[in-house]
Amino acid sequence: MAQVEHAHATNRNGNAHRPANGSIDRGAAPAIAKALNALLADSFALYLKTKNFHWHVIGPHFRPYHLLFDEHAEELSASTEELAERVRAMGARPAGAEELRRIRDGKRPSIRSQDMLSELMEDNEAMAEEVRKVRGLCERHADAASTSLLQSLLGQTERRREFLCDLRREQEEDNTF
Ligand SMILES: [Fe+2]
Repeated sequence: MAQVEHAHATNRNGNAHRPANGSIDRGAAPAIAKALNALLADSFALYLKTKNFHWHVIGPHFRPYHLLFDEHAEELSASTEELAERVRAMGARPAGAEELRRIRDGKRPSIRSQDMLSELMEDNEAMAEEVRKVRGLCERHADAASTSLLQSLLGQTERRREFLCDLRREQEEDNTF
């Protein structure tokens, strides 16, 4: 696909990405871009959810959780940006408002802080699984740039999950909900 070999985009720092990997399997770019766009939607949804918990958390753990959720939300916002730029670099269109609207966040009047931790833990685990799948797809089609991006996103997602998991365990042990 000619678009792949000639596509360029600039990243946040204004540096041009390299042309999107001349050795990538021909014909694989649309499938990879589609999979990256699905991750973009996941990342954006999880960003909003995490930010929402940042706004709504209450209770004895307010301050550390409020700060942690904001930190995780910022990381997810940056991931969304990187995924969108990679999709552009592949000559495809990053997901727009219509696609990103598929957010299932529910309208709950309130949620306990331990449930916030559990939900985010599960969401990050599910996201890590999706990232692994798309990384496999990119590896199979010799898309080194996407593989490298996803490897980095996977590390961040796993770290968020582990952190949330540790806090959840601490809460259970201390019984300090
Ligand atoms: Fe805030």
